[in-house]
Amino acid sequence: GAPVEVNVGKMQPGQLIRAEWRGKPVYIVRRSDKTLEELPKHDNRLRDPSSEEPQQPDYAANPYRSIKPEYLVALGVCTHLGCAPTHHNGDFGEFVEGVPNGFFCPCHGSTYDMAGRVFQNVPAPLNLMVPEHSFVNDNTILIG
Ligand code: FES
Repeated sequence: GAPVEVNVGKMQPGQLIRAEWRGKPVYIVRRSDKTLEELPKHDNRLRDPSSEEPQQPDYAANPYRSIKPEYLVALGVCTHLGCAPTHHNGDFGEFVEGVPNGFFCPCHGSTYDMAGRVFQNVPAPLNLMVPEHSFVNDNTILIG
């Protein structure tokens, strides 16, 4: 499929926008400073906190799983059986038990933090996949 351009210039901190690439949903999140500060605190509850799983671009192998810490780009596809996880943002008072900020899969209850890193003791085996992407300029992400 052709690469897809996403304009992130008007995104507010905490906001998620959806795109589609190769027929799959892609989630782009502009993470707030508070979220970025909280991410390292989840590490001991995660399956693969440093994202060492090899099936992803090199720039996803860091605790933020991103090129720029502020922006997460991940497939909105649960790594268990492929449902679309919902996004909940503690900054906006949304909350799923045990996971104040991140993604929740309604199918079998897998939870991910706001870097798409999967928690332990859930059915999903892997972190949300980060698709190949790049920044064309400060406001534009090219997916694919
Ligand atoms: Fe997400 Fe099963 S498909 S937990």
